[in-house]
Amino acid sequence: MSSLAFLAAAAGLLTGASGAAVDGFPGATAGPGYLHVPLSPPTQDALLRKRADVAGTTNLELPNFGSFGYTIDISLGTPPQPLTVAVDTGSSELWVNPDCTKSSRAKNETIDGHVYVSVDGPITDPVECKKRGRYESSKSSSVSKADVDDRTISYLDETSAALSYVKDSITIGSLKIDDQIFGVAKTSQRTGIGIMGFGPGSFGFNNSGTYPLILTTMARQKVIASPAFSMHLNHLDNKTGSVLFGGVDKKKYSGSLAKIPFITVEKKFSNGQSFQHTSYYVKVKGAKLADKTLDVGGGDGFVASLDCGSGASLFPPALNKQICTTLNGTVQAGTDRCIVDCALRQRSGGLTISLDGKDIVQTFDNLIDENVHQEVSTCSVMVSDGAESPYILGAPFIRSTYSVFDWGNGNLHIAQSADCGSNIVAIGSGPDAVPSGNGECSSSLAVGTVVNSVLMFASAVLSGLFLL
Ligand SMILES: *[C@@H]1O[C@H](CO)[C@@H](O)[C@H](O)[C@H]1NC(C)=O
Ligand SMILES: *[C@@H]1O[C@H](CO)[C@@H](O)[C@H](O)[C@H]1NC(C)=O
Ligand SMILES: *[C@@H]1O[C@H](CO)[C@@H](O)[C@H](O)[C@H]1NC(C)=O
Ligand SMILES: *[C@@H]1O[C@H](CO)[C@@H](O)[C@H](O)[C@H]1NC(C)=O
Repeated sequence: MSSLAFLAAAAGLLTGASGAAVDGFPGATAGPGYLHVPLSPPTQDALLRKRADVAGTTNLELPNFGSFGYTIDISLGTPPQPLTVAVDTGSSELWVNPDCTKSSRAKNETIDGHVYVSVDGPITDPVECKKRGRYESSKSSSVSKADVDDRTISYLDETSAALSYVKDSITIGSLKIDDQIFGVAKTSQRTGIGIMGFGPGSFGFNNSGTYPLILTTMARQKVIASPAFSMHLNHLDNKTGSVLFGGVDKKKYSGSLAKIPFITVEKKFSNGQSFQHTSYYVKVKGAKLADKTLDVGGGDGFVASLDCGSGASLFPPALNKQICTTLNGTVQAGTDRCIVDCALRQRSGGLTISLDGKDIVQTFDNLIDENVHQEVSTCSVMVSDGAESPYILGAPFIRSTYSVFDWGNGNLHIAQSADCGSNIVAIGSGPDAVPSGNGECSSSLAVGTVVNSVLMFASAVLSGLFLL
């Protein structure tokens, strides 16, 4: 029923252009077979305010790289109950209703004899948490029982949630799916926002495990032609980042949109039996910085997952050392944080990451984060030391890309991010569903990209640490 309503509404619209506005979802636009939804990065004001609250602090230290950044507005149930959730490509489930009393990550820590205090950013702030809306199943006429056992979901950054599951409708813009299973938190830790995972299930793009994931349901209920979406995070100072379900926007990238099959990684169950784990895994085969070729290790490179829920990339420590040295940076004692000259952010070019079949330049302003505290700027490289493979290509890298995640064929399509308007082409079905060919923007790399760096914060820096 919902799918028909969506297609009927879409059929009346003109193709191409930027589609029609969607009531109740500011910035969302729909066209035949696609839905374009804006993503909100955390507001810089919120970060500034929280930081200014901390009295008597001096140096800004150790941003928390593990936090979520981008959010999306959705509605659950009938009548629709609006909520805001964080978008994450590193996990696969939707869950809502975090425990606001346990959301804070603020803490005092002693490192190297100094006491540091961390403060909450918008994603972990208990006050912000209460403003994001809650889902009450008792108020929905379309809810039904989900045949999925309760379980606890844990993330790499120590966020966790104990969930029970329900089945209800989900509305995102004009796109509505029915009977989608999702989690409702009984308790949660260290997050003030629910999470909408857009990663595949662990056992394959066609096999989400216990229940069909949202993207699969969208395709099955035919609100999009095949399970595929595009992500354009855009620059942090540009509020036009977006997710595009069922479409590709040819005016959001330059050069070729290269097709790269996702790879799998062998993992083990607790009983020792191994399996091929599915995530947005790609191979990093090379890296280049300031005309210097860096050694990515092992000759063949390393595997990393594309994870927009990670505020920094996690690379092999040896690679991070080369990046820091090449940028004439200094590693802060007791940490893996590389402090560099803020003037680097204004430079054109950046860190070239060679994937298996495509080079992406992570521009300097996406690679280096600037924190301003009491009018003193500190700039650090947005990479952290990963403990082991698989590593992570986090939000700062993805901001330099246009990425299409095609579940139907298990492929990534990736290009250099740009922004020259909007020309959305729907993704069809079959092996060549994702349109190929070059983007309609000229290369953005030659242009100076930094507008005003002084007040820029990385979305990742959700709980900065201050030296007391
Ligand atoms: C950190 O220490 C300061 C100073 O002792 C104190 O005021 C503050 O409440 C502490 N914060 C946390 C989160 O424990
Ligand atoms: C932000 O988006 C607008 C609209 O698409 C574009 O014109 C502008 O160049 C973008 N700015 C940056 C810094 O990318
Ligand atoms: C690092 O310092 C050296 C020596 O002063 C200089 O030649 C080089 O250009 C600097 N590297 C960067 C990335 O600025
Ligand atoms: C998913 O299943 C379809 C139909 O069975 C098949 O054609 C396709 O190759 C599968 N895709 C992947 C990535 O395994």
